[in-house]
Amino acid sequence: MQIEIIHEVNLTKADDAAIGALLSHAFGQIGDDDFEGRSYHKQRHHLRVLGRVDDHLVGHIALTFRMVTLGCETLPVIGLAEVATHPDHSGKGVATALLEEAMRLASGTQAEFILLFGDHPIYTRRGFRPVQNELRYVGIEGGRTGTVITRATKHLKVMALGDQKWDDAASLDLLGHIF
Ligand SMILES: CC(C)(COP(=O)(O)OP(=O)(O)OC[C@H]1O[C@@H](n2cnc3c(N)ncnc32)[C@H](O)[C@@H]1OP(=O)(O)O)[C@@H](O)C(=O)NCCC(=O)NCCS
Repeated sequence: MQIEIIHEVNLTKADDAAIGALLSHAFGQIGDDDFEGRSYHKQRHHLRVLGRVDDHLVGHIALTFRMVTLGCETLPVIGLAEVATHPDHSGKGVATALLEEAMRLASGTQAEFILLFGDHPIYTRRGFRPVQNELRYVGIEGGRTGTVITRATKHLKVMALGDQKWDDAASLDLLGHIF
């Protein structure tokens, strides 16, 4: 498998369509929502890690670089999203290889933590820790900005990149949409 890193602004229409098709295939319906061919769930990202075999897209992870506020402190984080492997290539280490590449990229940034929302064992095996901070973010439904949502965190995983400690009791404000 070849791993390619593409900045969001450099994605071609063909890449965008291939990612959208992969995400629709891998995730299907998510609640009342699905990807409907989009290459992102709620909003665009900053960097894509793509796995290709013979020019076919077989795996994907998106990275988003942003500020969040944990308790009273505003911190830079990398959010990982849309981790997907084409079903024909599952169980061959595609997601593992792309996750390791995403972690390597994140560790070269100013981010203090990597965050993701997901429950697959791949994350805890690679050192991500489940946390349950109260979460605050701006809802987006059907391409429209909704209300500010405050709720218990579901599925949040955290990995520290530096010396800073994650405060498990603090509320987490995503300063915008959820990734
Ligand atoms: C989850 C997903 C990305 C895994 O991709 P993959 O390329 O098959 O994963 P890998 O081959 O790298 O396997 C990763 C690990 O998960 C294990 N694994 C793979 N599929 C699994 C499954 N269905 N159930 C439990 N473990 C599984 C592998 O044995 C491997 O274990 P290891 O870390 O001990 O080596 C892929 O199944 C997928 O796209 N699923 C649909 C979308 C999704 O749920 N994304 C994750 C959102 S949290």
